[in-house]
Amino acid sequence: MNQDQLKQLVGQKAVEYVHDGMQVGLGTGSTVKFMVDALGERVKNEHLNIVGVSTSERTAAQAKSLGIPMKSVDDVDHLDLTIDGADEISKDFQGVKGGGAALLFEKIVAINSDKVIWIVDESKMVDQLGAFGLPVEVIPYGSQHVFEKMAARGYHPEFRRHAGELVRTDSNNIIIDLHLDPISDPHVLAEDLIHMVGVVEHGLFLDMVNTVIVGHADGPEVLT
Ligand code: 5RP
Repeated sequence: MNQDQLKQLVGQKAVEYVHDGMQVGLGTGSTVKFMVDALGERVKNEHLNIVGVSTSERTAAQAKSLGIPMKSVDDVDHLDLTIDGADEISKDFQGVKGGGAALLFEKIVAINSDKVIWIVDESKMVDQLGAFGLPVEVIPYGSQHVFEKMAARGYHPEFRRHAGELVRTDSNNIIIDLHLDPISDPHVLAEDLIHMVGVVEHGLFLDMVNTVIVGHADGPEVLT
C-alpha cells in the first residue's frame, strides 16, 4: 500500500465514529480530504444528518461540493467530534500540526470539541517530536523581529514560502517554521512561544487528542 492508500484507509475508518445529529469539526490536509470524501458518501447514501464545521477554506469548499451541510464555528454551541490529520504524533499523543498552514482554525475547533480523532499514516508516529519543522503562525507586522528573537533562542526559524512568496494563512497571517529536532520538552516550548508578542498560535497540539487512527498495510490501528 502506498501512502495515499494508507491515508484513505484511516479516512474511511474515522467516519465510522460520526453519527446522526453530530456537529463535526473537519480538519485540513491530504488525509482529511479522503475522510471528507468518505463522509460525503455517508451523507449522500445513508442520509446521515450532520453539520460540519471546517478548519480551512479548502475543506469547506470540498465539504460543500459533496453536499455536507456546513456552519461556522461561531454558529454552533459545541462540536461533538473533530477529525483531523497531523504531521507528527509522539507515543504519548502529543502532536505537531500546521503543515497545511491551518493550525489556528484547527486548534480553535479542536479545543471546542468533546472528542478529537487524528488520522495518520504510520510514518507520522514518532518517538520524539521535532523532525518535522514546527509551524508557528505570526502576524505580518513585526514578524522580522519575532523571527530574530526566535533565532536568538536557537529555534532555527524559517519563513515559509511557496514559489518565492510568503505563505499566507486563511487569516492572512504568515508561518515561521522552527527546526528544533528534537523538541525535548513540548510543554516548555509551547509556553515560551505563546508568550512571544506577534505569535498568534503554534503547531504544538498538546493534551488535545482522544483517539489516533494509524494506517498500516494490514489495516487501521485505533489507539486510545
Ligand atoms: C494542516 C495540518 C494537517 O492536518 C497536517 O499537515 C497533516 O496533513 P496531511 O494529511 O496532508 O499529511 O495540520 O494545517
